[in-house]
Amino acid sequence: SVVAKLNLDRIIGKHQDFPKPGILFRDINPVFRNPDALKFIASEFSRKFSKTRYDATAGIESRGFVVATAVGMKAGKGVIMIRKVGKLPGPTIKKSYDIEYGNATMELQTDAVKKGQRVLIVDDLIATGGTAVAAAQLVEELGGKVAGFGFVIELAGLKGADRLRQMGYRVESLVV
Ligand code: PRP
Ligand code: HPA
Repeated sequence: SVVAKLNLDRIIGKHQDFPKPGILFRDINPVFRNPDALKFIASEFSRKFSKTRYDATAGIESRGFVVATAVGMKAGKGVIMIRKVGKLPGPTIKKSYDIEYGNATMELQTDAVKKGQRVLIVDDLIATGGTAVAAAQLVEELGGKVAGFGFVIELAGLKGADRLRQMGYRVESLVV
């Protein structure tokens, strides 16, 4: 590929004590701002999922939207937005879940996923996995199939990706 190798870990921002004392926060923004890094993300996921059949890429609000657009465009797929509650018009379904710093509700338009459609779900980062599980449940509730999960950053210590793998999902992370 055009982008041979790139050390994403070196580009990811690290902020001690954000948003709370004791948390080492990984910041994807410097990666998104770097055109080579953005292109690298798209290439890596297209390579890792080259043998996987899927019809659409779903991004999880908000950082996941950037990842989904890069990956979707490279793969020639459209982008489905899985959003925080209250943002999507028309008929929707909702799913509440726990996150590291509280709880939240995700929403998806009922016509966004057709029965039998295969969806690749991507996000910038997986921590506890609560958000990813809710996203999968939304896709599946509409009769879709989760083709896999792609994360730029996997916080392995929080076991979210392991949880997804134990549920039988294919999970690919670029930086663990
Ligand atoms: C972050 C991150 C994932 C989720 C991971 O998003 O982008 O979506 O948390 O956490 P989990 O694996 O413990 O569920 P956040 O909710 O902060 O929203 P944002 O992308 O809009 O900043
Ligand atoms: N960075 C970004 N989002 C997060 C993190 C982090 O370290 N932990 C949980 N969500």
